[in-house]
Amino acid sequence: MTTSIRTKTDPLDSTDPQVLDYMLVPHRNFNLINGVHSPDEVDQIQNWEIRDSDIFAVTYPKSGTIWMQQILTLIEAKGDVTPNTERLNAQRVPWIELIGSEKEFNATPSPRLRVTHLQYKFMPLAIRQKRGKVIYVARNPKDVLVSYYHFHKYAAMLETPKDFNDFFEKFMEVFGNCWFEHIKTWYANRDNMNFLYITYEEMIKDLRSMVERMCRFLGKDLTEEQMASVVEHSTFRTMKQNPQANYETVPDSLLDHNKGTFMRKGTIGDWKNHFTVAQSERFNSVFQEKMRDLPLSFTWDINDVTSVT
Ligand code: PPS
Repeated sequence: MTTSIRTKTDPLDSTDPQVLDYMLVPHRNFNLINGVHSPDEVDQIQNWEIRDSDIFAVTYPKSGTIWMQQILTLIEAKGDVTPNTERLNAQRVPWIELIGSEKEFNATPSPRLRVTHLQYKFMPLAIRQKRGKVIYVARNPKDVLVSYYHFHKYAAMLETPKDFNDFFEKFMEVFGNCWFEHIKTWYANRDNMNFLYITYEEMIKDLRSMVERMCRFLGKDLTEEQMASVVEHSTFRTMKQNPQANYETVPDSLLDHNKGTFMRKGTIGDWKNHFTVAQSERFNSVFQEKMRDLPLSFTWDINDVTSVT
């Protein structure tokens, strides 16, 4: 087993069955999790030194983070799946916002692959001087809401929703605002950075083309065989069978595996199985109002090639 520096406080990278008293802590209009994130450390991230070879995959939660962890490692390893089987996703491509991550970041040899759910305002200022590369993955927010709902049902560090309606209201009040700010601020600042914007739905529709686009952006030249391996090991079908991608080694006290799986449905449009017509209409009206200045469209159904925007 390859050794690595581990961030002990990553709840999904824990073998310690002790349950911490997790709760959301609003910080500068962003929700941090007590015991997992430290507001002071998060505020220090903007001072981090960045190398040109650093790669950040940026996602709002439930938008394809683990998918990017898988793809980035495979691209880096030129399709060799060994690094993916030897170490957990969170060890290979850690979150930058977890407690203790700066030390680990400084100690990691290049290229440093990282993920983050953070808003743009918290990021290392150096990315605004085009140091490092940023891949932003967006997912249609109705499916984000549904995926997040199911995750809340089995993740011990998050409050268990009473039912879907309860979570829908919470998303509209709290998480939804964070989603809009997340995508708007990241996208509005895209020209300041080495920035690639892609969507979860594009990856569902044509994973191979999206991996090729990522490779061009990252300056990686893979052979046909290497590319085929990256794609094969990044499909939902393959990842669903991968115990690491399902965080199966994480104890039930942190992720109750009887109540859900991380690789759940992996599709577009599951919101239609959850939203009422009234909820969908309400969501559309907030979406259209908040996104009216942003030239972005989403795919809302697996059979659609057009969007509601
Ligand atoms: S987290 O908790 O924020 O890190 O979650 P995140 O990894 O961002 O998102 C989890 C959702 O992504 C889906 N997923 C995939 N879909 C399609 N193909 C592949 N390869 C893939 N990998 C992860 C995963 O199933 C979760 O979505 P839902 O809708 O719940 O299935």
